[in-house]
Parts: sequence; structure tokens; C-alpha cells
Amino acid sequence: MVEHPFSFAISPALTLTDVAERKIIRRVSDLRRYFADTESLESMIKDGDPVAYEVLDIPRPEREGELISGLSILYPGLVGAEYFMTKGHFHAVRGTSELYYCLAGSGLLLMENEQGEWKTEALTPGRVVYVAPGWAHRSVNTGTDERLITFFVYPANAGHDYLTIEQRGFRKRVVNDNGTPRLVDGGADSQSVVSRLVGTPGSNQAPEKSELKTQ
Ligand code: PA5
Ligand code: NI
Repeated sequence: MVEHPFSFAISPALTLTDVAERKIIRRVSDLRRYFADTESLESMIKDGDPVAYEVLDIPRPEREGELISGLSILYPGLVGAEYFMTKGHFHAVRGTSELYYCLAGSGLLLMENEQGEWKTEALTPGRVVYVAPGWAHRSVNTGTDERLITFFVYPANAGHDYLTIEQRGFRKRVVNDNGTPRLVDGGADSQSVVSRLVGTPGSNQAPEKSELKTQ
């Protein structure tokens, strides 16, 4: 492991050049407990189980003082009416933060904390989102045909707590409502809301930030 400064480039082919990288691929089948419309999800899995997202990062020792950085590449797509999204997680060490810098595509970062607050921030090229300590975070690709690509950095000792989100979900879900991204409640009735919106025609227009309810 390198113990002195290093630099790297993000190539147009989406690899981190000059450094060793680690790649994680998440298919729709890896997101079984995350999307509301389980019927659409299972039929997508049968039809080829597409890749939902990839994460490339630079491994570093998972200790205080180190940083982990990399690329998150989230494909466009829908499961029922719900946009492709990452699993989302809290950091196991709740006091750690994260920075996201959007390189391409359009979407949002959905965040919530354990005090009951939630917030979304737009991800468009050039925008940076600071995920404050204690906030769970999930990327959502609301574009119609472009990958949402973000560069992230977080403390290497942060750890990932996936279980909390896997078990209770986020308070909000992001769905395609006639081509417009809309936030709906992620509670008990979310499956019926999401199912009701299935089959709504898509739109080729990039969503406007103002079309998203933000808090
Ligand atoms: O650490 C992060 O927040 C990112 O690198 C994410 O891991 C990445 O975007 C994939 O999301 P998730 O880890 O929730 O599957
Ligand atoms: Ni994180």
C-alpha cells in the first residue's frame, strides 16, 4: 500500500488510471429488497438481470486518516415506476461524512437522518453534494438514457451499514410520474403507489430541478 502522495486520472472510458482499482457490479437481482414493485423486478431478473450500477474505488486501509475515493456509475432504467438507484446506506461510523461530485448524467441524492429529516439534492454535472455526518444516502438516476456518474470521497474508517436501509427503506421513493420525477412516501402503501404509476409513458426531457419536491 502506497504511503506517500499519489495522483490519478478519471479516463473517458471510466477507469481510474494510474492506480489499482476495485470494481463492484450490482445487478437488479442484488436489489431485491429495495424496489417496491417486486413483480416488475422479478420479471426483469428473468429477462436478463441488467446491471443497475458499478462502483470503482481505490482500496485504502480502513483506518482513520485514510480516504476512499472512486466512481459510482448508475445506469438509467426503471423497476416499475421507480428509477434505478443504489442500495443506499448509513455509514457504520455515524460521525463520518462524504462528498459527491457529479461528472455526468442527471439524478439526485436522496438523504435522511435518524431524527426523521430527509433531503434531496440534484446531481448534475459540476454539482457537489456534501453528505453531512449521520445522513444515509442513495443515488437515483432520473435521466432517460444517460448514466449518472459521480466521484465520491469518504473517510476510510466510515464502514457501510446497509442493514438499516434494507430493513426499513428510505422515507421517500423517487418515481417516474408521466416522465417527471416525483417523490412519494416510502412507507407501507408505497408498493401500491409505485404500482399505480407503472406503465406511465416516459419522456425524453431531462427533469427540471424544480419538478422535484425538495426539503
Ligand atoms: O460510499 C458511498 O457512498 C458510495 O461509494 C456508494 O457506495 C456507491 O454509490 C454505491 O452505493 P451503495 O454502497 O449504497 O450500494
Ligand atoms: Ni457512503
